[in-house]
Amino acid sequence: MIEQAVRPEVRSMARPRHGGDVWQHDNIKDYSSNVNPLGAPPRLAEYIAEAARDLHNYPDDSSARLKDAIAGRYGVGADNVIVGAGSAELIRLFPEVFVSPGDRVIMPRPTFSEYGFACQLMGARLIDHLLPEDRGFALDVAELIGRLDGAKAVYVCNPNNPTSRMVGRNDLLDLIEEAERKGVLAFLDETLLELSPRSEELSMVHEVGSHENLFIIRSFTKSFAMPGIRVGYGFGSKELLRYLEAGRLTWNLGTIEQRVASRLMEDEQDHVARAVSMLDEEKRRMHSRVEALMGRVPLPDSYFFFAPLDELGASSEQFRATMLRHGVLVRDCSSFGGACSQYTRFCVKTPGKDDEFLAALSLAVDDMQEGRS
Ligand SMILES: Cc1ncc(COP(=O)(O)O)c(C=O)c1O
Repeated sequence: MIEQAVRPEVRSMARPRHGGDVWQHDNIKDYSSNVNPLGAPPRLAEYIAEAARDLHNYPDDSSARLKDAIAGRYGVGADNVIVGAGSAELIRLFPEVFVSPGDRVIMPRPTFSEYGFACQLMGARLIDHLLPEDRGFALDVAELIGRLDGAKAVYVCNPNNPTSRMVGRNDLLDLIEEAERKGVLAFLDETLLELSPRSEELSMVHEVGSHENLFIIRSFTKSFAMPGIRVGYGFGSKELLRYLEAGRLTWNLGTIEQRVASRLMEDEQDHVARAVSMLDEEKRRMHSRVEALMGRVPLPDSYFFFAPLDELGASSEQFRATMLRHGVLVRDCSSFGGACSQYTRFCVKTPGKDDEFLAALSLAVDDMQEGRS
């Protein structure tokens, strides 16, 4: 009976897979999720304790103070800001509000799986735009623009998860403008951009005032290393946000989330800045050490590596299992599909932690070379 009752879109859905599943393992060091390696700001516990004194009232459904804090930090209007329980909530909300069954949605692949999942739940027809492995998975924006006719929306993740590739500012502007001309919505994920020194240069946040079709997401999760507290945010034109707000879950952010995130946005920007300068230098140091162990690996645009495993002769799944034996969790990329089952993803942390990673990598490479994988 249930089988008949369920919506056809949901019947065949499998939940998206993610990294960061540390709770399944004892004594493991997690390099599979891309969060600020400096950890959360030291005062986080204090902010939580402060907020926890006021749990007897419902939270502010409009999250007004938090929106003001975000708007102030980015120099946009509070009515250009929406907040969500993680950017994951906004990824879900966007197609709930804009996508109808049968709508065509253009999806570069491989990319973060939640976009396609959310669109499929709404009955979208996903049009895969394959990122070419032989061009380092770079997004050719002209080709993407060529596919926009008749689409409802196009998605871009910058930098892209899992490939660690960034798209330049002019290319993004071309895409957004061409999409606008053709009546196509542009969904841009900048959640991984804030920890890059190119964040200011590449961010499109200031374009939301002049491009009605543009929606951008960012998150506290990565920048403040707090995936356990669910706070993300988005930017869009007033027109676009009016409808997203209309469809949003009531009380989507609790009091703790709102208060803590406001304090972080107002008082802890230095914490993010410290991570940015450390990560950029550390990425380059890691790169030469990783290449010495794994063979040719592209220098990532972002602060996480997407490394081919062909020279080690291992699959993504085998590599993850071997690294786990040495106490380190990396991302098995096979769920991203296609060539990704021959790649692995791991993040850059602090020099000390990265030396631990490299020691584990060296042991894992020995295992694989001696057939112990
Ligand atoms: C590219 C990208 N976007 C969005 C998210 C969702 O993050 P959150 O819901 O924690 O903001 C993730 C999480 O891994 C991600 O990798």
